[in-house]
Amino acid sequence: MDLADGPWQAARVSRHCHGTMTTYQLAGLTARCVSLALFVSAGLTVCTAAPLRIENLRCEYRVNPAGLDVRTPRLSWTLTGDRRGERQTAYRVLVASSARILAEDRGDLWDSGKVASDQTIHILYAGQPLKSRARAWWRVRAWDKDSQPSAWSSPAQWSMGLIEPSDWQARWIAGPGGSSTNSKTGALPASMFRKSFPLPGGVRCAIAYVTADGVYELRLNGHRVGNHLLAPEWTSYRRRVQYQTVEVTALLRRGENVVAALVGEGWYAGRLMAVGRFAYGTHPRFLLQLEIEFDDGTRQTLATDQTWRSTSNGPITAAGIYDGENYDARKEWPGWDAPGFDDHPWSPAAVSPPDSRALVWQRNEPIQVQREMSPTRLTEPRPGTYVFDLGQNMVGWCRVHARGAAGRPVTIRHAEMLNEDGTLYTANLRGAPQIDRYMPRVDGEFTFEPHFTYHGFRYVELTGLAQRPTTRAVLGRVFHSAAPLAGRLACSDPSLNRLMENIVWTERANLMSSPNDCPQRDERFGWMGDIQAFAQTAMFNMNLAAFATKWLQDVRDDQADDGRFPDFAPHPGNPNRQFSGVPAWADAGTIVPWRAYQNYADLRLLEEHFDAARRWVDYIHRANPDLIWNKGRGNDYNDWLNGDWVKQTGWPTNGASVPNAVFATAFFAHSTELVAKMAALTGHREEAQHYAALFNDIKAAFQRRFVASDGRIEGDTQGGYALALNFDLLPEQLRPPATAHLVNNIHRYHDHLSTGIQTTHRAMLELGRNRHEDLAWQMLTNRTFPSWLYMLDNGATTVWERWDGYVRGRGFQDAGMNSFNHWAFGAVGEWIWRYVVGLNPDDAAAGWKHFVVAPKPGGGVTWARGDYDSIRGRITSQWRLVDGAFTLELTVPPNTTATVYLPAREVGQVRESGRPARQAPGVTWLRGVTGETVWRVASGHYSFRVPVP
Ligand code: BGC
Repeated sequence: MDLADGPWQAARVSRHCHGTMTTYQLAGLTARCVSLALFVSAGLTVCTAAPLRIENLRCEYRVNPAGLDVRTPRLSWTLTGDRRGERQTAYRVLVASSARILAEDRGDLWDSGKVASDQTIHILYAGQPLKSRARAWWRVRAWDKDSQPSAWSSPAQWSMGLIEPSDWQARWIAGPGGSSTNSKTGALPASMFRKSFPLPGGVRCAIAYVTADGVYELRLNGHRVGNHLLAPEWTSYRRRVQYQTVEVTALLRRGENVVAALVGEGWYAGRLMAVGRFAYGTHPRFLLQLEIEFDDGTRQTLATDQTWRSTSNGPITAAGIYDGENYDARKEWPGWDAPGFDDHPWSPAAVSPPDSRALVWQRNEPIQVQREMSPTRLTEPRPGTYVFDLGQNMVGWCRVHARGAAGRPVTIRHAEMLNEDGTLYTANLRGAPQIDRYMPRVDGEFTFEPHFTYHGFRYVELTGLAQRPTTRAVLGRVFHSAAPLAGRLACSDPSLNRLMENIVWTERANLMSSPNDCPQRDERFGWMGDIQAFAQTAMFNMNLAAFATKWLQDVRDDQADDGRFPDFAPHPGNPNRQFSGVPAWADAGTIVPWRAYQNYADLRLLEEHFDAARRWVDYIHRANPDLIWNKGRGNDYNDWLNGDWVKQTGWPTNGASVPNAVFATAFFAHSTELVAKMAALTGHREEAQHYAALFNDIKAAFQRRFVASDGRIEGDTQGGYALALNFDLLPEQLRPPATAHLVNNIHRYHDHLSTGIQTTHRAMLELGRNRHEDLAWQMLTNRTFPSWLYMLDNGATTVWERWDGYVRGRGFQDAGMNSFNHWAFGAVGEWIWRYVVGLNPDDAAAGWKHFVVAPKPGGGVTWARGDYDSIRGRITSQWRLVDGAFTLELTVPPNTTATVYLPAREVGQVRESGRPARQAPGVTWLRGVTGETVWRVASGHYSFRVPVP
């Protein structure tokens, strides 16, 4: 039977080195079990599926990842099923060396057998040892709560990379003149590399393993290979360089073939804040190993070596991350990346001796174009100067399609804001011009898109055109590390929706291989303090499991020898000498992995990270045996951008900045507590006791030194109370008075926050935790300065570095530090997720195995909905205030449970799907708390209703 005939439609056809895999779906049917995973070569087996469905197969957090260097990869899936209390009671994983074998229900690499377990994440591969280049096809079936088996999942796969150093035959090659700088911008020209080679045909499979010191674009027989941008991305290059693995079988042909690459300076040799250019090396280099397997089983390897040809005299005359790109079409080499090109004018590539750096798999999602933005407006503030408004502050670059004149440069400038006269405001870019220049070769239309830079911008200015453009001349190409969107949130207040959108846009803008502070000025660094504050918001919005795992390796790689974590990672300078060990910034080295654990239950990550985290706490402890962190603090960034930075008539000129020792000691305590928790989870029993005791001692020292008997904390700052409360540094009886001091202090600022980037979200969270949600709601919805909606009212489409980056009628803040795309103040997103939507992870059951649903309506909002794709499946929570009732629609994924807080004084007031909640299946009454009843629910969909006075 040809499945493509009749109602069966091939939903997905994918060709791979070892066969073709097709997934068929019965057209039009949406009932359970219509998606049968079949292989062309296998017969049709009709499933007898239980209602449980298996989706989202992941290997090391990624969909069908290629080139792993993890010898025992971890597998995960999610379950869906409508029945209450649905759960997995057992699973069976099959891993096969070909699609065909898997289709025969055989796992020649691994058959886990039926394992009685509810585990759906981090299933450790335990089959045949995986060698370099191995390919694995896998699928899984699960048994439901009644012990009925599900259908097999659709198949997924992964492949191994080159995991032994001896696998690598390729040599690093550089082009001529690598370090000669271009006079205009200082950025280097891109090097071009090519290699022509014959093939007899009959290629079964060809895989390229490829990387660069710099940033590269790979080409094969005239085609761009893959859609990675700025690969191999930024790591701590002195220790580690990522390589990418791409299958190129379909691009090869009989006869002459050409593999080619463009390589730009990128982060490796380009200009970087604080260290200047050439932080890692002066010559961008390239490395490629192309492995070809023929139908007859023979193999051929083509690798970079001295036989490659190279030139730096090509069209990309300069390209830098901060600078932008200069492209001179007159210098193009037509046909350079395809057969038939005469490369005699080029030089032999220069081969470097091997080095000891590790070549590693790229485990995070690549930087890729994620969306496109068309201009909403075109103006001409000066004759011949065209300004396009993309309507959204974004990150990426533009594809420009316009008319130019031969030899007349077209200049493409980018800015986040406009001056009053409609021209670009670029003063805040500081030393990052972010200008692209295109030099046409002939008169007429051209299309240009840069290669090796990126810009933060909303406005684009074109000059030098031969003809007035239309809005179609510019297309904004938004790119960033393509971490999957995890959270979607909406409520009845359009301003809050826009705020949340701004936060997500800011997250997009700053996920560029590392979690950066900003995407536009001459900085764009993985400033640790910023992601430390923003981490939970970031993880609500996107699945950052793979991204965080990659980046925490950078953090460890750039830890100073004495244990100080860097202030930013990757750290292009020397962390032993400077930019390391700063309170709250370096503490990202304990806080971010902990957040990752809470959300993704990743014990392996904690195991890998534990020693580094412990060394950080030991460093502080060694320097401060009296447990008050006074010594060895590096720079005191303190509660950066707190209210004392604000210059407004009537606003107090001081009183917001947390005393340095209070601030630092609070983080010392918190990091120590997290290290104790990590130790306990990773089986370090003695260390767990040691750090737990140390935490208690630091807490006691903090109280003795900084906390008065009435709960007042030295400095009497909002930030100080926020930290002490949030890090649980106060005795229980002092929590209420300390909260009262926080509240009074907020009143002193006329109900505004005077907190900086480290304490704003913590103040909000503690108001929530200590029953002052109303005040938190008020600050969330304040439109007066300083507030989030004040930014919105002044035109923000992303989160600003400063509350008053731009004010209508007043103009811009100090250009020296005025980014319009900084996520730190966006950490309020965490409050919105936890209190507006009401979703909270539970430390005691990490990875959303159990979670708490506790929305706290306020601010005039009448409904809110959040969908969150947890690592165990989608959680949906939607509440409404309607017809004198509070309703909550809740979906709890199979295998998970939730504790639900409902605003009912009495149990009897709560109904679920029309009946008293106490009688509802899957619902258990737990207790009453002030004004609320607390329930435990099993997985499933619930519809609660409570009358509200
Ligand atoms: C960055 C901040 C960063 C800070 C350190 C700034 O220039 O943009 O976001 O955390 O330096 O205080």
